[in-house]
Amino acid sequence: MQPKASIAVLVLLLLHVTLAQPETSARPTPESLARPCLACHTPTDRKTIPLLFAKPERDFTKAMRQFRDDQRSASVMNRIARGYRDEDFGNMAKYFRNRDRSPR
Ligand code: HEC
Repeated sequence: MQPKASIAVLVLLLLHVTLAQPETSARPTPESLARPCLACHTPTDRKTIPLLFAKPERDFTKAMRQFRDDQRSASVMNRIARGYRDEDFGNMAKYFRNRDRSPR
């Protein structure tokens, strides 16, 4: 490789590394917040864990705050709810509210 060409490659590589840095202030999308919940709140098995799809936003955020503040008894949700901000509850509430409740 010619020296000029290798310098160009190096510059491009450095530029790529610089541009690929994650933006630390970026907040997760509602979908990325909600995805881990679906492991348990699956649309296909509703017998043991309630479905969150199409749940009214107010009911959702109220439940999450109660879990977080230990005002509602829970096996796991109190611990899970502590990992989120109020802002996240609002975003997740909208996400679930707009999902279709019908079985797939
Ligand atoms: C490990 C399994 C599990 C995961 C993961 C999980 N949940 Fe739950 N969720 C439950 C169970 C079990 C209940 C019933 C309350 C309890 O025992 O904790 C519940 C109840 C709820 C309720 C109350 C629903 C109702 O109609 O009463 C909401 C809201 C909720 N979860 C939201 C979430 C959200 C949001 C996430 C993701 C951030 C999530 N859950 C992740 C297991 C889980």
